[in-house]
Amino acid sequence: MTNILCIGAGYVGGSTMPIIASHCPDHRVVIVDINENRIAAWQSDQLPIYEPGLDEIVRQTRGKNLFFSTEVDRHIAEADIIFVSVNTPTKMFGRGAGKAADLQYWEKTARQILENSTSSKIVVEKSTLPVRTAEAMERILNSNGNGLHFDVLSNPEFLAEGTAVRDMQNPDRVLIGGRETESGRKAVEALVELYATWVPRDRIITTNLWSSELSKLAANAFLAQRISSINAISALCEKTEADISEVAHAIARDERIGRYFLRASVGFGGSCFKKDILHLAYLCEHYGLPEVARYWEQVVTMNEYQEARFVSNMVASMFNTIAGKRVALFGAAFKANTNDTRESPALEVCRALLDERADVVMTDPHALENARYDLGELADRVTFEFDPYIAANHAHAIAVLTEWSQYTQLDYERIYNSMVKPAFLFDGRNLLDHKKLYDIGFNVYPIGKPPLTHLRTYNNS
Ligand code: NAD
Ligand code: UGA
Repeated sequence: MTNILCIGAGYVGGSTMPIIASHCPDHRVVIVDINENRIAAWQSDQLPIYEPGLDEIVRQTRGKNLFFSTEVDRHIAEADIIFVSVNTPTKMFGRGAGKAADLQYWEKTARQILENSTSSKIVVEKSTLPVRTAEAMERILNSNGNGLHFDVLSNPEFLAEGTAVRDMQNPDRVLIGGRETESGRKAVEALVELYATWVPRDRIITTNLWSSELSKLAANAFLAQRISSINAISALCEKTEADISEVAHAIARDERIGRYFLRASVGFGGSCFKKDILHLAYLCEHYGLPEVARYWEQVVTMNEYQEARFVSNMVASMFNTIAGKRVALFGAAFKANTNDTRESPALEVCRALLDERADVVMTDPHALENARYDLGELADRVTFEFDPYIAANHAHAIAVLTEWSQYTQLDYERIYNSMVKPAFLFDGRNLLDHKKLYDIGFNVYPIGKPPLTHLRTYNNS
């Protein structure tokens, strides 16, 4: 039996480790966190994250070979393999503020591992980290004077929220980076063996440490870049009567381009894309590559432009004022099938609408609690309403900001009848049937497509 420990019971630790436990019943998996409430939630029936399929796996493994605990020190001492999946947010102070990775949580963990270890261990970086972080981790860990040896591996996580279980059960690839020493190779092999329990070996890639660390940042940068690229084209579509769905379909047929990540939207959100691109740009700057840094930063600039453009379009379409007007935001989560609202475009739109003094009502099937928390003091100025019909009642406008499939099933005739006229619908996800909504009476504003509006008729009459 191997004792596996994961430090950090967040979205990554909490959704990956139960799957390891389910595939490796002979191993003992413990997930620890300093956040007592979070651990209590993992031990309850109401898990702290909403992730389709996860409840069932946690139910099957918890108390058998999967355990949650706040006793970090004790479990470090017992562990053979330690995954570190603590948060690595953007640093908001001092050198590199607003760009560099804040490694304080990660470094505290390294020191805690060192203080509490009485045997040699494999330490696995699961968090997304700047390239060459493993070197610092090795230096801290191997600075002990008691003959212990720590092998540091990089095993970045590529799962996406909302499909975490599927991604982890059936990954495109598992990436493991390690040192090319005898001990490093053995450590890599031990981790390969663990994953090979359920992942076909040809999908397990091994590289040197730095390639592994950099591949994670590069993968996120490439994915985000595609969204910013299609969003850039969506702005041009709106000026030219081209249709972004038709353009995306046409370019995706080129196999070299491919069909994924070409959905134009109000912008990408989530805790990682923006932070990882800014970290990447900061690293480029650090290594004397300012042109490369500017190149990647533009992906984030484009995203901010897309969010701002969405709100400007709303205000301009609603006769240049939305002060005092009730606006219903359909969706708070940064994407469907998660309760995560970190960097959600819905919150960005909400803040901008509040600046315009709109009366904002937010609805979401799973993410209202996190939205309230993330909005901080502004939350007092927002109404949170679980029922989308009540949210839309007496509203001047609806903005669809998360692509929840539930929103395609609503009775929009009923919604239209309950709204102030003229009724506006801004579809930030191109989710709904725009022609049908237009026929009901809505003035419909998609992303990257000509608006469908009845207003010209009113003006001429
Ligand atoms: P998170 O904020 O949800 O979870 C991190 C957890 O670590 C928190 O619960 C925090 O309390 C805990 N923690 C911090 N310091 C600790 C310490 N010293 N001891 C014990 N626990 C500690 O973050 P997340 O979304 O799970 O992301 C974690 C890492 O994984 C980040 O580097 C992120 O970039 C990366 N990542 C995230 C995703 C994702 O979908 N969220 C996907 C791939 C990679
Ligand atoms: C992303 C990556 O897809 C994962 O591989 C990676 O592990 C993870 O970041 C991470 O490092 O945190 P995630 O942010 O959970 O996963 O979700 P995505 O599906 O990538 O969506 C990110 C954002 O882009 C969402 O707001 C989504 O709505 C938006 N998006 C996505 C678009 O606007 N258009 C698209 O075509 C695709």
